[in-house]
Amino acid sequence: MTPMTDSSTSLWATRLRQNQGIRSLMEDLGQVTGHPDEILLGGGNPAHIPEVEEIFAECFRILGEDPSLRSLLGDYQAPIGNDRFRSLAAEYLSPHFGSNLTKDQIAFFNGSQNAYSYLLNIHSGYMKDGSFKKILLPIVPEYIGYADQSIEENAFLAKNPEVIKTGNHRFRYALNKTDFDLSEVGSVALSRPTNPTGNVLSNADIDWMEERTKKKSIPLLIDLAYGNPFPNLIGSEDPINYNEGRTLSLSFSKIGLPGVRLGIIISNPETIEILSSYAAVGNLAVGNLGVYMMEILFQKNILPHLSKNILRPFYDKKRELAISIFESEFQKHGIDYEIHDPMGGFFLWIRFPSLSVSNHKLYHLCKDKRLFIVSGHYFFPGLNSDFSHTKDCIRLTYCRKEEELARGAHILAEIVASHQAKSQ
Ligand SMILES: Cc1ncc(COP(=O)(O)O)c(C=O)c1O
Repeated sequence: MTPMTDSSTSLWATRLRQNQGIRSLMEDLGQVTGHPDEILLGGGNPAHIPEVEEIFAECFRILGEDPSLRSLLGDYQAPIGNDRFRSLAAEYLSPHFGSNLTKDQIAFFNGSQNAYSYLLNIHSGYMKDGSFKKILLPIVPEYIGYADQSIEENAFLAKNPEVIKTGNHRFRYALNKTDFDLSEVGSVALSRPTNPTGNVLSNADIDWMEERTKKKSIPLLIDLAYGNPFPNLIGSEDPINYNEGRTLSLSFSKIGLPGVRLGIIISNPETIEILSSYAAVGNLAVGNLGVYMMEILFQKNILPHLSKNILRPFYDKKRELAISIFESEFQKHGIDYEIHDPMGGFFLWIRFPSLSVSNHKLYHLCKDKRLFIVSGHYFFPGLNSDFSHTKDCIRLTYCRKEEELARGAHILAEIVASHQAKSQ
C-alpha cells in the first residue's frame, strides 16, 4: 500500500485521524467478540426489549407483504425524503411541538448524527462576511459525537459549567450565565436530555438563552435523541416546543432502532433547503427503510404508547437498579464518588474526585478486564480552561442486564479502589 504523505493527506483528514472519541467508542461496540466475560457499558446502544422488538417486527411483516416493498428496495428517495413522507411527518409532529409545521420544515437523514455533520458546518467556520463563527456548547460535558464534526479546526466554544452539589454523592451541572458571550458564536447546540450526564435543561434556562440568541439571529440546535416526543426520557421536565429560530433533531435510534438509521430534522424552510443540498451531495438520498417504518408508526400512533408505557418505565427501573448496584459496590470499596443527577436518557456520569490516574487510563485498565466504559475527557470540546471533571469522570450506560451491571460495578470499584489518592 502506498503510504499517505503530508502532501496527500488534508489537514482535515489528519485531524480526524488523531481524534479517537466517537470512533473509539463505536469501534469498541463493533469489536465485541461475544466472550462471556465482556461487559458492555460503553456505547449508546438502546436496550433490547422484547415487547418493543415485537412491535418493530410487526412493522417488518407489514412492509414485507406490502406492494410498496418494490419501491422501498428499488427506488431512491429525494435527498431529504419524498414530499409524501415529509408532509406526513409535519402533520404528525405538529401537535407534539405546539406548532403548525409544514413539509418544507422537515428533513430526513440517515441518523441524526448524519444530520449534525451538516448542521454544525452550516453554522460554523468562515461565514460569507469573512468572520469565523463557533458552535457554543452552553454546558459541557456534551455529546461526544459533535466533537469532530466541524470541518474547521477550533470550531467549538465552551466555558466551565456551574457545578451544584445536590445531595450526598450527587451533583448537577448548570448553565453558567455570568460568562454567556455570543460575540464569536454562529450557533448554540445542546442535547436534551444531555448525553453523557442525563441532565435535562429546564425550559426556563433554554428561554433565557434564546432571548439572547434571537437578538443576534443565532440558531439554537436542540438534540432530542432521548427527548420528546419519543423516547421521551425527560424525567419530570416539560417537553420542548418548536419555535422559529430553533432547529430540533429527533432520532429513531433510542426507541430501539439504531440499525435503521433514521433522523428527523425540524427547522425553518431555508435551513432545510440547505440541508437538502448537503444531503444530495453527501448521501444522494435518505435510506427508505426508516421512512417507511415511520409511516406505519405514525399512522398507527404507536410511539406515544411505546414511550409512556414501555420505554420510560423500563429505563426508570434500570436506572434505579444500576444506581443501587454501583453505589453499593463503591461504598463497599470505600470509593470517593459523585454521580450526576440522572434526570433522563440512559447514562450515568460518575466522578471519582480522588482518582490518581486519568479517566483515559482508567478506561484502559477497565478494558484490560473486558469492561467497556467511556472516558469522560472526550466530552468537553471547546473548553480550554482547567476543569478537574475533564480528568476524573466517566460515562456508562445502564441499558444492560442486571448481572452484567453487577459484574461491571464490581470490577470498576476494584480498579478505582486501587487507584485512589492515599488520603482515601
Ligand atoms: C445526544 C445524541 N445525539 C445524536 C445521536 C446520534 O444518533 P443517531 O445518529 O443514531 O440518530 C446520539 C447517539 O448516541 C446521541 O446520543
